[in-house]
Amino acid sequence: MNLSTRSAIPEIMDTQKVDIKLLENVFLDINKANDLLGGAVITINAVNSLVQEYPKKEYTIIDMGCGDGTMLRKLALISRKHQAKFSFIGIDLNQMAIDLAREKSKDFTEIQFVCQDILMLKPDQFTCDILLCTLTMHHFENQEIKTFMAHFIQLSQIGVIVNDLQRSALACYLFRLFSGIFIKTKIAKHDGLVSIKRGFKKKDLINLSKSFPKSEHIISWKWAFRYVWIVKQAN
Ligand SMILES: C[S@@+](CC[C@H](N)C(=O)[O-])C[C@H]1O[C@@H](n2cnc3c(N)ncnc32)[C@H](O)[C@@H]1O
Repeated sequence: MNLSTRSAIPEIMDTQKVDIKLLENVFLDINKANDLLGGAVITINAVNSLVQEYPKKEYTIIDMGCGDGTMLRKLALISRKHQAKFSFIGIDLNQMAIDLAREKSKDFTEIQFVCQDILMLKPDQFTCDILLCTLTMHHFENQEIKTFMAHFIQLSQIGVIVNDLQRSALACYLFRLFSGIFIKTKIAKHDGLVSIKRGFKKKDLINLSKSFPKSEHIISWKWAFRYVWIVKQAN
């Protein structure tokens, strides 16, 4: 297996239209993997540290490529115990994902969802304090990543938190074992493996970060086989 560069193999989710029930099951698989392998906690901890570092009375958090909105619901539940007021916006290209997210978030008046291509963001269309991009960046080529990261950095007042996969042979091997036991849909099994091959090595993220020299970048490896890339506005 040659993992020296990011794979260009497409994911089924990006190339085939699936019905809403199947999409819901794929998100259930992704959420299960996130919960069991600690993916969601990584984002929650990163949000927590930015909130502590930049105290405010109100925060707006945007999740780019929000899928069925699970991450925002987790954050909303935690934020209800916080003194500050939080509002959330989930953005996704897939109208069915947005429909699912709205359906599952009926009890969350603090969350809104918008169907929008993150490659077509217009300046001033959104503004937020913290911007999240979880398991979405690996869907794109490096040049596209540079395009949307420039917008992300511009529209977030505090910073951007990217949480994505490490490209590694061991991660591929262990994902095959894990998905054989825990993942139900063929799409999540296929796309999970492809996602790791489309994922990142630390040097890829360092190279991407060099396109934004005015910002502060913190890139850390986290279990299991994740990188969190935090981009903070320079003071
Ligand atoms: C693997 S899912 C990740 C979902 C969620 N963030 C999570 O961590 O579970 C990737 C999401 O990115 C969305 N996506 C892909 N291309 C997009 C684009 N150009 N603009 C907005 N969302 C996009 C997909 O529809 C999908 O919901």
